[in-house]
Amino acid sequence: MPRAFSERAFTPAVRAHQERMGSAKTYAKFIEDGPQQGHLIGEPEKEFIQARDGFYQSTVSETGWPYVQYRGGPVGFLKVLGPQTIGYADFSGNKQYISRGNLDGNDRIAMILMDYANQRRLKILGRVEFTEGEAAAASLYPDEAEAPAERAVIIRVEALDWNCPRHITPRFTEAELRPHLNTLGQQLAQLQAENERLKQELAKFG
Ligand SMILES: Cc1cc2nc3c(=O)[nH]c(=O)nc-3n(C[C@H](O)[C@H](O)[C@H](O)COP(=O)(O)O)c2cc1C
Repeated sequence: MPRAFSERAFTPAVRAHQERMGSAKTYAKFIEDGPQQGHLIGEPEKEFIQARDGFYQSTVSETGWPYVQYRGGPVGFLKVLGPQTIGYADFSGNKQYISRGNLDGNDRIAMILMDYANQRRLKILGRVEFTEGEAAAASLYPDEAEAPAERAVIIRVEALDWNCPRHITPRFTEAELRPHLNTLGQQLAQLQAENERLKQELAKFG
């Protein structure tokens, strides 16, 4: 885990449990000697973020409740705007504004981005700034925007962490399966044609 992430995630209570369970030394060494800060979006992270069609984001309410919401859109709707900045257009939805309201009192956000097909996941910690209004969101619109956006959501990234790939069951979207389905479809058509031809040949002897 990169230093920028562990500095934020390894709170005194977390460290106390690591101490009790015998992992504190391993992690302390990891933090002190960690090779990279892990606060910048590199090329692999940029490519990964911009290839997503959804992510889970967590905010915290002023009453202390954590709240997880899923955000989805066409691939590319989550945009990398700089080495520590990502953003997306927030579209009119069910008008509950839970995430929006939570971020008024606490601008911190935790995100997890999943690539089920390749068993990869990226965790991000950041702080959110909003620019209200459709005009502000216009540059963040995905190509196939459905409804007018209400605001631009700008996330100032503070830490990134490639989480371990274990226990991610591979799942595939229709777009990810399409090339393979096309190949199988072509092979099936060839086999059906060949089967038809063989049946006709066989009929000549019947
Ligand atoms: C017409 C309509 C369109 C929506 N479009 C999207 C969408 O493109 N992406 C998405 O993640 N959620 C979409 N939603 C869900 C809403 O954005 C949802 O209200 C919002 O995620 C709720 O956020 P909250 O739980 O923080 O209040 C849509 C909902 C409606 C009613």
